[in-house]
Amino acid sequence: MADNKATAHAQSNIAFIKYWGNRDDRLRLPVSGSLSMNLDGLTTTTTVTFDEALAEDEITIGGVLATGNAAARVSDFLDQVRHRAAHELKARVQSENNFPTGAGIASSASAFAALALAASRALGLDLSEPQLSALARLGSGSASRSVPGGYVEWYVGDSHETSYAESFAPAEHWDLVDCVAIVSTRHKETGSTEGHAIAQTSPLQAARVQGAAVRIATCKEAILMRDFTKFADVVELDSTVMHSVMMTGTPPLFYWQPATLTVMEQVRRWRAGGLPVCYTIDAGANVHCICLSSDVDEVETRLRDLDGVNNVLRAAAGGPARIV
Ligand code: PMV
Repeated sequence: MADNKATAHAQSNIAFIKYWGNRDDRLRLPVSGSLSMNLDGLTTTTTVTFDEALAEDEITIGGVLATGNAAARVSDFLDQVRHRAAHELKARVQSENNFPTGAGIASSASAFAALALAASRALGLDLSEPQLSALARLGSGSASRSVPGGYVEWYVGDSHETSYAESFAPAEHWDLVDCVAIVSTRHKETGSTEGHAIAQTSPLQAARVQGAAVRIATCKEAILMRDFTKFADVVELDSTVMHSVMMTGTPPLFYWQPATLTVMEQVRRWRAGGLPVCYTIDAGANVHCICLSSDVDEVETRLRDLDGVNNVLRAAAGGPARIV
């Protein structure tokens, strides 16, 4: 057996075709597939040590001891890993993000991908990439997509084993960059776990799910052909479709702030003026502006000039989760 300790790095990812709503909330089996790009440099580093001296799991996130729901979610996840390894030892988990948490940059994606890899390795489990991706999904759906590298598709699947993510192009395939316009660093009001449970109450969710496979195929083809125009249209459409579902559920979820709409409007205007850039927004107010690496300085400068944009983070396409 391993020496009961392992450290892993995983990167966040940005979905181009979104995941919103589960068929099975406990297993986090989604109602539709999704597509994303890993974000180089927006990283969680997690060390897991299984230790017989511990009576309970001890979890620190960014140097702060986790309690309540956050700690329970990690412990429940560790139970899944312990179950698979037929082990009962409690663990010490130390996790650090190098970007702001809870503000529309998926920290749970990189967090549970890093935790899945570190915890399984610390207990000597040798999982294939699909098995590791499916395991990470149990912690946070989008974490399944932070296990493989580059451009990734998460298959809807019909069971725990078949709902995992896989790379369809390496990071080097296309030099897209995500310029995240930070308009708010407030912790989001309704987290995605609750949001997924509300999704089915929207009268628009059925239409979103019905069109998802076609949007995935279109987006994948645009990425494989490096066709920015086709890419931009489907990415913005999918983001707006998801937010329409969010805004029409019970209770309704409004994540956009005035500055969010300002950025959206300007990005559309810049693209009409010949600058290849488009936007997508997760469960928060920040706007992920996707462009080519050759235009990233121009996009960042323009974003920083806008009222309400407090900061801009940049991330190129990134690689898979890995053991350090
Ligand atoms: O993995 P979760 O439960 O945090 O859900 C992520 C949901 C979105 O970020 C809004 C969309 C996505 O596909 O990443």
